[in-house]
Amino acid sequence: MNHQKNMISLIFLVFLSLHLANGQLNYYYYYASCPNLQMIVKYGVWAAMKNDTRIAASLLRLHFHDCFVNGCDGSVLLDDTKTFTGEKNAGPNRNSVRGFEVIDNIKADVERACPFTVSCVDILTLAAREAVVLSGGPNWPVTLGRRDGLTANLKAANTNLPAPFEPLANITAKFAAVGLDSRDVVALSGAHTIGLAQCFTFKNRLFDFRGTGQPDPNLDSSLASSLKTACPNVDKSNTNLNSLDMVTTYGFDNAYYKNLVNNAGLLESDQALMSDPKTASMVKDYSTYPYLFYRDFSTSMTKLGNIGVITGLNGEIRKKCGEINH
Ligand code: HEM
Ligand SMILES: *[C@@H]1O[C@H](CO)[C@@H](O)[C@H](O)[C@H]1NC(C)=O
Ligand SMILES: *[C@@H]1O[C@H](CO)[C@@H](O)[C@H](O)[C@H]1NC(C)=O
Repeated sequence: MNHQKNMISLIFLVFLSLHLANGQLNYYYYYASCPNLQMIVKYGVWAAMKNDTRIAASLLRLHFHDCFVNGCDGSVLLDDTKTFTGEKNAGPNRNSVRGFEVIDNIKADVERACPFTVSCVDILTLAAREAVVLSGGPNWPVTLGRRDGLTANLKAANTNLPAPFEPLANITAKFAAVGLDSRDVVALSGAHTIGLAQCFTFKNRLFDFRGTGQPDPNLDSSLASSLKTACPNVDKSNTNLNSLDMVTTYGFDNAYYKNLVNNAGLLESDQALMSDPKTASMVKDYSTYPYLFYRDFSTSMTKLGNIGVITGLNGEIRKKCGEINH
């Protein structure tokens, strides 16, 4: 009897220490406090994808835009209020990032199962992983225990997030600023194997590339003509949507890299990976060996998900993902 009691308190103490483990994420963080968490998130992403195929891509991107600004802290999820400015209206986010309602819905399900226990940033991190898995991509274990930030940073969202018009060196510098190297740039750019981009994000390549009066020479000419039809040279086509990977738009695979090898990358920043011998050789490797890409993508996603996390007693567990607790 006494033995059993001791075992129970030992187990309890183990879980308590996992929960409080200062500054450390771990795989078992919610093991006792929210055992069904991963199933709830998986179901939420699955249901959202049944309604909207594109949402997997959008959730993956939302996680990226969270982690590059103030670290992975759920800052991208915060709404503007009279006294608070969020990141949703930053240039790279406004009328572009999506998936907020999906995270809100999953959070509501999680709150019903385990009230006031799981952070929004952990939900977003898990949702990004499920989005990749449910799109046919690799699976990787996600450590947990991130806490939600108390603030957002509009200015950092405008400066830290890469733009498709920037040279590769500038993009690499922005990754380096958060501890990611050029291998991470190449592997994580493979996220563009799913999802869509608006015409204005690559139109500069179609009609008058850098004042030449010609399309970008690094853009396959038959792709250029079909993109000119999809994105006519008038402002009102700016928000038309196109596949980032026109071979398998919603399938997570290595077709993105095969496209780059064939000068069929959509964004200038995608195709630029072929302009540097070091990144070009990684692109070629990923185009030939899908499992090498999967392995490196998983490794880089883990690094991405660990950027600037808030742990222990810092930050909070938000009740609603769009606002800090009152
Ligand atoms: C390397 C620098 C990057 C640049 C310059 C870049 C730029 C862009 C742009 C311009 C779009 C289209 C946005 C729109 O039209 O509204 C886009 C979409 C997307 N990006 Fe990136 N991105 C980069 C890296 C990443 C990374 C690291 C990830 C995730 C790990 C990612 C995931 C996505 C996804 C999945 C989409 C499609 C979203 C959807 O369909 O809703 N991107 N990106
Ligand atoms: C289904 O997807 C559409 C398009 O993204 C979205 O506007 C709508 O809110 C979604 N409905 C549900 C029930 O999730
Ligand atoms: C690239 O970075 C350099 C140095 O920081 C900067 O001067 C330049 O404006 C950047 N280019 C673009 C297109 O953002």
